[in-house]
Amino acid sequence: MTQKMKAQFITLEGSEGVGKTSNLEYIKSLLDSSGIEYIVTREPGGTPLSEALRDMLLGSDFKGMSDDTELLLMFAARAEHVAKVIRPALEKGQWVLCDRFTDATYAYQGGGRQLDMQRIQVLEQWVLGDLRPDLTLLLDASIDIGRERAGKRSEPDRFEQERDAFFNRVRDCYLARAGAEPDRIKVIDASGDLASVQQQVKLILDALLNE
Ligand code: TMP
Repeated sequence: MTQKMKAQFITLEGSEGVGKTSNLEYIKSLLDSSGIEYIVTREPGGTPLSEALRDMLLGSDFKGMSDDTELLLMFAARAEHVAKVIRPALEKGQWVLCDRFTDATYAYQGGGRQLDMQRIQVLEQWVLGDLRPDLTLLLDASIDIGRERAGKRSEPDRFEQERDAFFNRVRDCYLARAGAEPDRIKVIDASGDLASVQQQVKLILDALLNE
């Protein structure tokens, strides 16, 4: 089964504080125990140029950048990441586990910033061609739960400083996308404890690994 399977492109999404980091570690452990060769990467980021763009996007040096600039920088970082890391890995037969991808652009720039979704679609088509994730795990929890968990961490970045209305639009957009693409985007209830979240993640990964 898994040996013959085409290398899978898996992405992990969710609003702030939903537990992406701990779940990423758990997914790695599941892939490790299945003997799958994979790389782990993230967006914005994943190459030296894309990480430099990440610093600009998340840091405080360019706090007042326009929403269009933010959108284009996200896609510039993604173009480099796809060309240098994601496509080459998949072509070599390595699975790719990516912490956020284009669904985050729809959710944050489209939902949060309220940019025109069609513009995002045009950029997506241009930058990705027909490359899309095979599976997206969407960790979902209320904004209050996310805030409480994220609040326990360090200094908030440029996005974390946004208000609840922004994050409610982000969450709604993620859920709407999951509703429109239920085969690819699997919603995981991340409001419970880590064990209950991991149980849901395991069911989904097991189904994929046993295809
Ligand atoms: P994180 O991956 O460490 O959570 O931080 C990345 C931040 O960047 C997060 O607040 C979401 C945001 N982001 C976008 O706004 N658009 C995107 O396309 C991506 C990949 C991330």
